[in-house]
Amino acid sequence: MWVVEAEGLRKTFVTGWLRPRRREALAGVSLRVAAGSIYGIVGPNGAGKTTLLSILATILTPDSGRATLLGRDLTREPAAIRQRLNLVSGHANFVWSLRVAEILDFYGRLYGLAARARARRVEELLEWCELTPYRAVPYNELSTGLKQRLALAKGLINRPALLLLDEPTVGLDPDMALKVRAQIADLKAREGVTILLCTHYMREAEQLCDRVAFLKRGMILAEGAPADLKRRLHLGDAIRLRMSGPAPDLTGLPGLLQWALRDGELTCTVDEAAARLPGLLALLQAKGVRVQELRVIEPDLEDVFVEYAKPHH
Ligand SMILES: Nc1ncnc2c1ncn2[C@@H]1O[C@H](COP(=O)(O)OP(=O)(O)OP(=O)(O)O)[C@@H](O)[C@H]1O
Ligand SMILES: [Mg+2]
Repeated sequence: MWVVEAEGLRKTFVTGWLRPRRREALAGVSLRVAAGSIYGIVGPNGAGKTTLLSILATILTPDSGRATLLGRDLTREPAAIRQRLNLVSGHANFVWSLRVAEILDFYGRLYGLAARARARRVEELLEWCELTPYRAVPYNELSTGLKQRLALAKGLINRPALLLLDEPTVGLDPDMALKVRAQIADLKAREGVTILLCTHYMREAEQLCDRVAFLKRGMILAEGAPADLKRRLHLGDAIRLRMSGPAPDLTGLPGLLQWALRDGELTCTVDEAAARLPGLLALLQAKGVRVQELRVIEPDLEDVFVEYAKPHH
């Protein structure tokens, strides 16, 4: 079952009046998000990530294209869709003088929750986001990490079936980012909510997402499960070893994509380290090379991202 089905979404912003400038933020984006999954959208600044989320959240209307969310048409039934989704931005801001519990209560009212259900939900979320000790703290006195956890709690107030997260860990220190990531993973497991997540952090996408799309200049350049994306680009594994003895010639070694020897450190990129390592070691031994240290480095999503960010893509 698809929770999001988007087809050919386009959006161009026109700014300025005397000399209008057109900026194509989305140049035909199609994607499908399966129920209960976490779907990641990664891409450089200005790629169109926030524009895409805003369209799906019914905040912006697309110039063309269509989308179905939770089985309903985006342009024909925006009100029904809004009830069942929520959007959390890493740059969220709430009324500075309201207290943590009051902010959640306020949003509960906006979603029309009755008093008793609202109070129960607020307590639940305070507990789950470990905000109970801060319930009476005014918003402007919270640290960035607490603000971010509050934003996540607010995003769950209406028990959304679809949660849109725009850079949920931006600006957080590594510890706090880990905590928020664990919470997102927990959400998927506990509440079965479908999550569409935009992020700059490849590790975040790699850890959390079932599928990832690379968005650049308003277009999806590649899409798939993180492991498949890495395989498809033939990035290969790196075998790095410290060696002494004669400089070997590795030309013609099966599966070898690239190699370099510098200052006694040999780096070989091969299609698959596990399959090629025995052959490589046998060859080195035959040539009288002594291996002192060996490491295998698998590519991560960061490498995939760097590859796609290159101009020729
Ligand atoms: N309201 C707007 N008016 C004019 N141009 C806009 C508007 N919103 C976005 N844009 C432009 O559309 C393009 C896509 O912007 P968007 O914010 O969607 O990118 P993003 O991928 O979220 O970037 P970032 O990683 O910096 O958040 C950019 O060129 C941006 O300048
Ligand atoms: Mg953005």
